[in-house]
Amino acid sequence: MSNTPLSEELKLRSGSVLKNRICKSAMNEAMATGDGRVVRQFEVLYRTWAEGGSGLLVTGNVMVDKRHANEPLAVAVEDERDMHLLELWARGAKSKGGQIWAQLNHPGKQSPKFLNGHPVAPSAVPLASDMFFPPRELTEEEILDIIERFANTASILEKAGFDGVQLHGAHGYLISQFLSPNHNKREDKWGGSLENRMRFVTEVYKAIRAKLGQNFAVGIKLNSSDFQKGGFTQEESIEVCKCLDELGIDMIEISGGSWENPVNRKGNLKESTKKREAYFLEFAEQLKENVSAPIMVTGGFRSQAAMEEAVNSGAVDVVGIARPLAVDPDLANKVLNGQGFVSTVQPITTGIKKIDQMAIMEISWYTDNIRRMGDGKSPKTKVRGIWSVIAVLFNFWKRGQTVKRVRA
Ligand SMILES: Cc1cc2nc3c(=O)[nH]c(=O)nc-3n(C[C@H](O)[C@H](O)[C@H](O)COP(=O)(O)O)c2cc1C
Repeated sequence: MSNTPLSEELKLRSGSVLKNRICKSAMNEAMATGDGRVVRQFEVLYRTWAEGGSGLLVTGNVMVDKRHANEPLAVAVEDERDMHLLELWARGAKSKGGQIWAQLNHPGKQSPKFLNGHPVAPSAVPLASDMFFPPRELTEEEILDIIERFANTASILEKAGFDGVQLHGAHGYLISQFLSPNHNKREDKWGGSLENRMRFVTEVYKAIRAKLGQNFAVGIKLNSSDFQKGGFTQEESIEVCKCLDELGIDMIEISGGSWENPVNRKGNLKESTKKREAYFLEFAEQLKENVSAPIMVTGGFRSQAAMEEAVNSGAVDVVGIARPLAVDPDLANKVLNGQGFVSTVQPITTGIKKIDQMAIMEISWYTDNIRRMGDGKSPKTKVRGIWSVIAVLFNFWKRGQTVKRVRA
């Protein structure tokens, strides 16, 4: 193994140690059954990634309430019915000494029409897209129920052998809806001031700690801001991180954007960002001055040189990698062996502008490769974008005889 800062261990506040500084960031696997149940392929997929050398594997987002999913074929964990498969999943992921954290999510109003006829949100503010029904405002009782669901899901996963959980506080889902003044117009203790808007995420955090204690890792993925006029700002994001830091959070992963504004997959970047590759490094530098929890940055890293520079700069403790690991599961080993690794992933195009602009294109291409790895096959990098969309839609249809719109 070469002398790279990425190979250094990292001791977490909860006491456990990450064997290196490379994390596979969350990617929805789209491999569950239509009603969110775990299948054997998760073990195969995560064993493949474990063999690839990453110190930490964060799962695709796991729903805490199966009635509210963000995408078809996402996992939902509400009870112990899939315990055996969850245990196999955790065992596969930990087979080479790395850790596995499950990303916990409730999508709030970002739950598409074909899955959810009755989405909920902090306030009844619709999204600017025909894909989603306008949401209903959550009652206080429902808010408390969702908080309890996060803790319940975390406790089932801990029992199955997962090392930790990551709260999905980014990309416009329920936690970020509570944080954003554009989406949270409540006048009770869950809305208004930043202190009130961050109450939901801090209560979720506290509920998990109350149930599982200090030895189970709890992290968060948070937007540096939501890049929307009148939305959640960088200053507010730092305040939320400071609060979670004081509460003892194990790691803060920085990301950005939402369905309405997907900056985490954008191509038009500033020159300085292009050089350093990752999109949120400047924010990480600012954040580092304000918190002592380890910071992970995800979005844009493609070369070993940029990953090393980010860690050497002192602003980043862990580099988060998503898309490159969907085509190169051995990425971490290659980087740690000092082969001057550079990922070859390129923007996925069909040549048809309208389709290329849709997130489904990019997501489908990667999801198709993730599914191949779950089936024990190698990723296919030469497939044209349009075929992945067709393959993924076919897979949804095949498994998704069970994908039903929830009209509870
Ligand atoms: C197929 C796919 C699925 C994703 N699913 C999730 C998810 O479940 N949770 C999440 O926080 N981010 C998700 N992301 C976003 C990634 O974690 C990451 O933030 C983004 O791809 C930018 O990082 P990259 O440049 O290394 O790919 C997904 C991305 C892709 C391509």
